[in-house]
Amino acid sequence: MFETLKNPPPDSLLALIKAFADDPRAGKIDLGVGVYRDDSGATPIMQAVKDAERILFEAQDTKSYLGPEGDMRFVAALQPLVFDKSTSHVTGIQTPGGSGALRLGAELITAARPGARVWVGTPTWPNHGPVFQSGGLTVCRYRFFDTKTQTILFDEMMAALSGAAQGDVVLLHGCCHNPTGADLDLDQWREVADLIARRGLFPFIDLAYQGLGRGLDEDVAGLRLVLDATDEALVAYSCDKNFALYRDRTGALFAQARTAAHAGAVFGSLAGLARVNWSMPPDHGAALVRIVLESPDLTRSWREELVSMCARIGDVRRALATLEPQLAFLDRQRGLFSNLALAPEQIDALRTRHAIYMAPSGRANLAGMRASDAGKFVAALADVGGLERAKAAVIAP
Ligand SMILES: Cc1ncc(COP(=O)(O)O)c(C=O)c1O
Repeated sequence: MFETLKNPPPDSLLALIKAFADDPRAGKIDLGVGVYRDDSGATPIMQAVKDAERILFEAQDTKSYLGPEGDMRFVAALQPLVFDKSTSHVTGIQTPGGSGALRLGAELITAARPGARVWVGTPTWPNHGPVFQSGGLTVCRYRFFDTKTQTILFDEMMAALSGAAQGDVVLLHGCCHNPTGADLDLDQWREVADLIARRGLFPFIDLAYQGLGRGLDEDVAGLRLVLDATDEALVAYSCDKNFALYRDRTGALFAQARTAAHAGAVFGSLAGLARVNWSMPPDHGAALVRIVLESPDLTRSWREELVSMCARIGDVRRALATLEPQLAFLDRQRGLFSNLALAPEQIDALRTRHAIYMAPSGRANLAGMRASDAGKFVAALADVGGLERAKAAVIAP
């Protein structure tokens, strides 16, 4: 049986995690793995989540099965963070993280329209292509971002989407674009929303970092323009970053449908697809998010901590931009990541000479750095010749 299998190439990011852990040098900096870190380098459990865990420990009296749709009170509590109250025919189910939501969404689209195409701007989260493909979609790519000038190629994006056929799916990053940190501004969102409505395209919005960009409401202002302009959409939601639940695999897939009957059919189809994939999603993380969002006190605590996490990332971005004008673009970008225009040799040199670990693509998780590391990072970039290539970015708007 197994003789036909080929061992896929190792995941470069996982290899990086191991190399970082094995590096004995003091002051090493990990900009590789995509998790938030505080100023001491830890990825802490949020206080509201810790408090919810205590409540869950005391109150939970069974671990009996729920169902393929998961915890529907969790789904109901999450929905208003994304959708305006006035949006009708919204349905959703709990999924194992944002990844599970993306996969389930792809399978739902394939069930509704076999052979559907999805338009994905590059660069993007490396898992988007494989997840969509495995879910049965045909992936069409267009250039979204130029790392040398650190600019969104909005004209190229609009040209690509103008060539999409009616019913084609359009992947949009809700906020904190991974890996570039470059989000559409509201005028651009409006143009994309108009185009989607005009051409009858189907938006699939990946919202994995709500609250880690400009704020909980600000981070959904753009995607709400799309949801307003169209009557059908999918939103894949991850709670793994904004509730720091990573390994608890907490997410949801929401669908906006044209009619109540469609919404019912979508819900039933999603439950059926979940049943043949993972049967039921893991409960723990979703139960915690439900407890937080159903308690005004815990919600306040969660929101405050999220604001302080967001502010810390902003401090790192500002420190780098202030120290080095060639990195001014970092302060215009949002979220954990920016994608630096570095050659593979420069990324290697950062690791070997300076103990600074970055993904081979040049993606830097700025939340992996202390603001006080900014000087060391800028000096290391200069040492490996990494600032020369950033020069073009200075003149970019
Ligand atoms: C853009 C994007 N979408 C989805 C995900 C998946 O998140 P989760 O860990 O909840 O599966 C990630 C995780 O890094 C991401 O960056």
